[in-house]
Amino acid sequence: MSLTSFLRLPFLLSLLSLQIYYAFPLPPLPTRSTSILSNSANEIPSPIHRRSTPLPSSSNTSVPLLTLTLPSNQQYHLLNSLNHTKLSLFAQLKTGSSIPKENLQFTNSTLSSPQVEITSSYNSGNLLVTSSTPLTSFILSQNIHQRGSMSDSGIPVYNEKNVTRSTVETYCRRLICLESEDKEKVWKEVEGVVGRECLENLKSKHKLKKSLQHFGSTFKSHFPYYYGTCSKCGCKSEFLGFKVTEEGEEMKSSRREIYFCGECREFDFFERYNTLLPIIKSRRGRCGEYSMLTYTLLSLYHPTRWIIDWNDHVWIEVEIEDEWIHFDPCEGIVDDKDLYRKWGKVGKVVVAFWRKGVEDVTGEYFEGGEERRKGEEVEEAVVLGGDILREEFGDEE
Ligand SMILES: *[C@@H]1O[C@H](CO)[C@@H](O)[C@H](O)[C@H]1NC(C)=O
Ligand SMILES: *[C@@H]1O[C@H](CO)[C@@H](O)[C@H](O)[C@H]1NC(C)=O
Ligand SMILES: *[C@@H]1O[C@H](CO)[C@@H](O)[C@H](O)[C@H]1NC(C)=O
Ligand SMILES: *[C@@H]1O[C@H](CO)[C@@H](O)[C@H](O)[C@H]1NC(C)=O
Ligand SMILES: [Zn+2]
Repeated sequence: MSLTSFLRLPFLLSLLSLQIYYAFPLPPLPTRSTSILSNSANEIPSPIHRRSTPLPSSSNTSVPLLTLTLPSNQQYHLLNSLNHTKLSLFAQLKTGSSIPKENLQFTNSTLSSPQVEITSSYNSGNLLVTSSTPLTSFILSQNIHQRGSMSDSGIPVYNEKNVTRSTVETYCRRLICLESEDKEKVWKEVEGVVGRECLENLKSKHKLKKSLQHFGSTFKSHFPYYYGTCSKCGCKSEFLGFKVTEEGEEMKSSRREIYFCGECREFDFFERYNTLLPIIKSRRGRCGEYSMLTYTLLSLYHPTRWIIDWNDHVWIEVEIEDEWIHFDPCEGIVDDKDLYRKWGKVGKVVVAFWRKGVEDVTGEYFEGGEERRKGEEVEEAVVLGGDILREEFGDEE
């Protein structure tokens, strides 16, 4: 398959310091990073919470690639990691049986020349990536209206400025998609999970903060944060990597996270859905999924914003008595804008997206965050994003 057909793939990924992958110009589903962010005892840190590697720059596009060739000539590739165990397990998953060691032939290379094979391996589902960055870059080129310039490696080159712009742009598109969900249906489905009473109070402005608190804790117990534990035995599974969901394989899932439970010797998948109904059904998600879900519920009755922290987290805000009140559905926490600072996070770009536009809200969560930005032209990106949303939703009151 050619690069062109690769770029036409309906299912994509994306970004943010770029941990994420999405469908259509659907943007990232960030994953929160690191165990230090856990503020409750039952939260088990997962390997997926590490920070992603920086974007490959034009001066250094070398990315390690490990290839496994089976006697049948089938090839499997692992990008950005030289972990033979992961790759053997992935091959086992693809072939359906474990392969004797002597039949495994590994080769190392680096991604620094045109990667037609990689693209085709990606398309056929034989590419496992341990960091989303290189694929994200591929996808970004699609999102920025096909004007991404390709380096020799086939990976488009971004500087912080155009990454910021395309990030804002993709989140705007994502918001537009979210807004097109059947919100009433989503409400009904969630009601089926958390109970009628819990949602009912959210409809009214009266004591909304209190209702939100109640909803938050109930929501959290029914929609727990997914830490990569085995769905059979509950043990912590090994994270093998991400694979792009093949067309027709799992509609509306932008990518699949693959886990392996050493106890059960079984594989487990975490689909990163871009639409809400499968999220409600699977009750598996992280901040990306749960912020989209709660955004949709709350926005049915109140002005609501979707808040993206460029680093790795997403939450929402609901307008209560002319004030934007913070609500983190993963934590079930309401009205604590210092939360992330208390976790030890150092934020530099936090942006609010809603029907009326895009706003840089960094200062509200991270004092002095703006000063930590280097080269990221957030103001310009926010203005462009506002234009996209106004064009879509008009100047509604
Ligand atoms: C280039 O990439 C290699 C492999 O990822 C890394 O070890 C090295 O530090 C990078 N060099 C620069 C100048 O970024
Ligand atoms: C390689 O992957 C295996 C299985 O996921 C894991 O147990 C092991 O720690 C990894 N090794 C390294 C060096 O990352
Ligand atoms: C690949 O590279 C790793 C790390 O440099 C090395 O440990 C391993 O032996 C190499 N494998 C092959 C097949 O060359
Ligand atoms: C990002 O900007 C740099 C320099 O401004 C440019 O060379 C590069 O082609 C741009 N990348 C994309 C994908 O537009
Ligand atoms: Zn298990």
